[in-house]
Amino acid sequence: MTAAFETIANGLAEHGYSITDQFLNQAEVDAILSSGSFQAAAENFRKAGVGKQGPRRINEAIRGDYIQWLDKTSSSPAVSTYLNRVEALMQFMNHTLFLSLKDYEIHMTVYPVGSYYKRHLDQFRTDDHRKLSIICYLNEGWKEADGGHLRIYLPDRALDVLPIAGRLVCFRSDQLEHEVLPATRDRLSLTGWILDQFADLKHL
Ligand code: OGA
Ligand code: MN
Repeated sequence: MTAAFETIANGLAEHGYSITDQFLNQAEVDAILSSGSFQAAAENFRKAGVGKQGPRRINEAIRGDYIQWLDKTSSSPAVSTYLNRVEALMQFMNHTLFLSLKDYEIHMTVYPVGSYYKRHLDQFRTDDHRKLSIICYLNEGWKEADGGHLRIYLPDRALDVLPIAGRLVCFRSDQLEHEVLPATRDRLSLTGWILDQFADLKHL
């Protein structure tokens, strides 16, 4: 993983973003998709249309995704594999880029067919603790024609990224505006942020 971490650090330092394939390998993606936590969330996502409990759909005019925050202390082994890799990435960034990242927050995400997230920045005026956005996609056999691109607005052009399984996109939360285009399939990911504060302090 060290080579991948180096590539990510270089990309962030030079361009403010980085795209890494095989951040999770096929077996790791499969394990997450079939893990208890993801299956339970998927079931809840399906029910969310009728019930008031479980996963949340926030501000539907702007974004149509369902999210469920991960609890680091009770994640399945498959999800923990990912969390541990994010933790290692965070430590690596601190050493190589002299950052003082402290923690991360991650949710499982499903964009149902046709839903999107309009152009936005991941830092809010009221909360600037999100430093790096990290999204790992879990969509096997995803094709260009399926849509659902992440469109990143770089200073000189827009960059469209396909949400293919195992791919990690990492970018500076305070700098790069982006949007999620609608897809013809449900679009699954683990979406998170690396913070310069402990996650449990954020909501105090
Ligand atoms: C977000 C977001 C991008 C993606 O959740 O803030 O921009 O590709 N997600 O899922
Ligand atoms: Mn975003």
